[in-house]
Amino acid sequence: MIPTTQPNNSDYTNKPIIAFIGAGNMAEAVIGGLYASGHPTSRLRFSEPYEPRREYMESKFPECMSATDNNKVIKDADVVILAVKPQVLRQVVADLIFESNTLIISIAAGIRTTDILRWLKTPQPLVRCMPNTPALIGEGAVGLYATDRVSEAQRDTTVGIMSAVAKEVMWVDKESLIDTITGMSGSGPAYYFLFMEAMTNAGISAGLTPEQAKALTVQTCLGAAKMAQQSEDDLATLRKKVTSPNGTTEAALKSMEAANIRQIIQDGVLSAERRGKEIADEMGRD
Ligand SMILES: NC(=O)c1ccc[n+]([C@@H]2O[C@H](COP(=O)([O-])OP(=O)(O)OC[C@H]3O[C@@H](n4cnc5c(N)ncnc54)[C@H](OP(=O)(O)O)[C@@H]3O)[C@@H](O)[C@H]2O)c1
Repeated sequence: MIPTTQPNNSDYTNKPIIAFIGAGNMAEAVIGGLYASGHPTSRLRFSEPYEPRREYMESKFPECMSATDNNKVIKDADVVILAVKPQVLRQVVADLIFESNTLIISIAAGIRTTDILRWLKTPQPLVRCMPNTPALIGEGAVGLYATDRVSEAQRDTTVGIMSAVAKEVMWVDKESLIDTITGMSGSGPAYYFLFMEAMTNAGISAGLTPEQAKALTVQTCLGAAKMAQQSEDDLATLRKKVTSPNGTTEAALKSMEAANIRQIIQDGVLSAERRGKEIADEMGRD
């Protein structure tokens, strides 16, 4: 939830002016995260063509500058975040007019930096970013790839922005790894939801109420994730520690291993990665 007051921060001028093109879910999450971290609202802007959505965002962030004209919000901005759907990105980018070394961060899933740079009128520093939906509650995992023109200071700025909505912010030095990250953390929340659905259904079919089954499943997922994060043991060791010989956990894991669960998950991640590359090929086509 976005707090009603911002933390004190008198040193406003060293904060970048950040303009969002597209004020949808992701933009709302990042603006909300920046707001909560004390980024001055006078240095946050957004453009959004859809009037009800723009009005909603204006009521939520009344001090941010807003517009329908994308070029109006990017004027004098230090950072421009492309937060529109991939399908409209090309047209949006082709119409933007930059006057300086403004950093562009694209969160549009699947679109390659070579395509965005080709569509731009001017050669800008560009970062490709892959967030995930937990960013909407400040728990995101983000992959980043920087093109040649991005300075160290701009890298730091990017990390600062994404840290407002993510607990894990990671640079990769090969852009193809962003497709891998898409298949892991980008699409990953859905894999965990599927696993939790299946576990919940098992509990319901054995007689628990849906509420009981969901509560136990979700807390188990959260607890296991926190243990994995906080423990010095690796994942295999953690698994072995809860698997007593001939016990209940071992029975479950044997059944899952017999169904080849590891291969199923790996194949799933690789399918997402492959699909990401296909979408990038389709979207980037001349
Ligand atoms: N949501 C996620 O969890 C997530 C995760 C990873 C990556 N992403 C990526 O982040 C990007 C944004 O996703 P989202 O979920 O925030 O999408 P979204 O809620 O649909 O937001 C996109 C916004 O951009 C607006 N827009 C459309 N055309 C525009 C234009 N020409 N100029 C300015 N704004 C325009 C849209 O308005 P209209 O409604 O009028 O079209 C919409 O409000 C996507 O590329 C998505 O792939 C999202």
